Amino acid sequence: MSDIVKPTFQPNREFAKQARIKNMCEYNDLQTWASEDYEGFWGHFANEKIDWFSPYSQVLDESTAPFYKWFVNGKLNVAHQCIDRHLATRKNKAAIIFEGDRGDKQIITYLELYYNVNKFANLLKNEFGVKKGDRVVIYMPMIPEAAYAMLACARIGAIHSIVFGGFSAEALKDRIEDADAKVVITADGAYRKDKPYMLKPVVDEALSGNTPVQKVLVIERNNEEITWVSGRDYSYNELIKHQSTKCEAEVMDAEDPLFLLYTSGSTGKPKGVQHNSAGYILWAQMTMEWVFDVKENDTYWCTADVGWITGHTYIVYGPLAMGATTVMFEGVPTYPDAGRPWKMVEEYKINQFYTAPTAIRVLHKMGEDEPAKYDLSSLKVLGTVGEPIDPPAWKWYYEAVGGSKCAIVDTYWQTETGGHIVSPLPGATPIKPACATFPLPGIIAEILDPQTGEKVGVGEGGYMCVTRPWPSMIRGIWGDPERFVKSYFGDVKKDGKPVYFTGDGAVYDEEGYITITGRTDDVINVSGHRMGTAEVEAACKKHPNVAEVAVVGKPHELKGEGIFAYIVLKSEDTMAEEMEMVKEINKVIIKEIGNIAICDDIVFVPGLPKTRSGKIMRRILRSIAKGEVITQDISTLEDPSIVATIEVKVKG
Ligand code: WTA
Repeated sequence: MSDIVKPTFQPNREFAKQARIKNMCEYNDLQTWASEDYEGFWGHFANEKIDWFSPYSQVLDESTAPFYKWFVNGKLNVAHQCIDRHLATRKNKAAIIFEGDRGDKQIITYLELYYNVNKFANLLKNEFGVKKGDRVVIYMPMIPEAAYAMLACARIGAIHSIVFGGFSAEALKDRIEDADAKVVITADGAYRKDKPYMLKPVVDEALSGNTPVQKVLVIERNNEEITWVSGRDYSYNELIKHQSTKCEAEVMDAEDPLFLLYTSGSTGKPKGVQHNSAGYILWAQMTMEWVFDVKENDTYWCTADVGWITGHTYIVYGPLAMGATTVMFEGVPTYPDAGRPWKMVEEYKINQFYTAPTAIRVLHKMGEDEPAKYDLSSLKVLGTVGEPIDPPAWKWYYEAVGGSKCAIVDTYWQTETGGHIVSPLPGATPIKPACATFPLPGIIAEILDPQTGEKVGVGEGGYMCVTRPWPSMIRGIWGDPERFVKSYFGDVKKDGKPVYFTGDGAVYDEEGYITITGRTDDVINVSGHRMGTAEVEAACKKHPNVAEVAVVGKPHELKGEGIFAYIVLKSEDTMAEEMEMVKEINKVIIKEIGNIAICDDIVFVPGLPKTRSGKIMRRILRSIAKGEVITQDISTLEDPSIVATIEVKVKG
């Protein structure tokens, strides 16, 4: 907390005049409304924002808490909400602006999006027999067809499960099997830094052996040579030519699942976070409007990948639900140089720009003076997401990119929350550097003491919790209702009702501002990507010479957190063998998870600090990784001397 830079930035008055929520009075009014008449508040926005096929009979059903139901019996279709309903007023407006890695461009209007999605939906339905409720895995690069695929699934009621293109064949296979998917949509590959890279071979590997997958649809993007399995693999580019542009949108229940997205938890394998139709799309749209304050003629760009929740909610569903123009970018922000994003901001006259602190740190480091070379005067709102932003990165973003005139929205949320839950409102909330500020209107969130369930005092620190269910919250973990309850709802109750635990620590300052301090569990945040230490440990253990392993996070200058592994080998080793072993273990990790899980540090140790009951004392390992002096009581360890041995090894 001490490194938070003061002073508070007052809202930009010019900006605030135009904003949807103009000042803190309006914010307070909304929040009071929500707290006094929760269902009235949500019902109002559900009526205002959603184009219902038939109305709901009840706003919120809490009878089976924490398995909540929102907008009971309401019928809608998310693709209709994102496309069809805009045709009357926006058919020729750009829905998606795409820029490829090599600078190739496409502008897709709402009418074109409508036709493309309908054709895609017909292809899935008629050629592949995909039906409502079927799971479809999408393993795609950042090209417009990824958005078409998502919306096509939504249109016919299939449940998509996107797997980030950086995940390995093993990781893809696990997710396909867990979701029992019958179709995979992929591309031959795409381009990165002007070179082709491949996805289809990864799919081939994932599908070797027993698989529930019957059909694979391949979008030919880079036209590199790939293997085609007859009867299983089909070319999108061929099949799409024969599809009709008309496809009735399936009538979906408010609580019909929209998608699954696998994410890491503290234990076990990644869990399939399930989001359902109405509540998710409502909050995606409302937060787009409130937090980014996108106006009719604005161009909005979120640099995430559709493989993560940010790409789902804030590249595809949120912007399209509100009828905005969303930019999709295939490339890397630092290629051909660290001015690429700013060049794009100038060229497309981007008004809202949304990225992760890791990207800001890298762009700052590699191109401190790049923003000044471009006209960035179109920018109004700058967003960050995914990890706590450090004050120096915030300052550079605010000054060099935003010209000290843009609102910065430090948006705090998770895969499970569907959309933002704590964030400034541009123009309305006086912002403090590196601070997520206040819960959004309608979100009843507090920092609680995990033991007592009481709200913590100023500066005390506790767990970030949401004490009332909200429309876009996770509905379940696919196939594992018990894990859902256990992972998110502890014993603490508020007014007798379950409390949602985010897994993040947070602290209030004297003005009630919330600063998120990071995960309180065994999840680490590498470049804004969630990584379970248990997953990395399981991958390491696949190496035949690894006897034991403990993985912790360690602060990293660019990535936020890096991955630090302590490994006990089965055989005695020499220095030279150790270097070889580091490479081999990382190879296993790449095979099991992907490049994103490569360890920054691997240290071979003779043993791990364990209690007499065999529990690894990770706190000690975290402290050693950070180079901190050990203050914890180590007398309860089975072998207290191991701590000094490990310290020597790490320093060496
Ligand atoms: C972290 C990404 C600090 C947090 C949207 C959370 C943040 C995890 C912020 C979720 C923020 C996200 N400040 N930390 N503004 N935003 N986080 O599921 O630890 O990939 O629990 O969703 O990212 O990561 P996930």
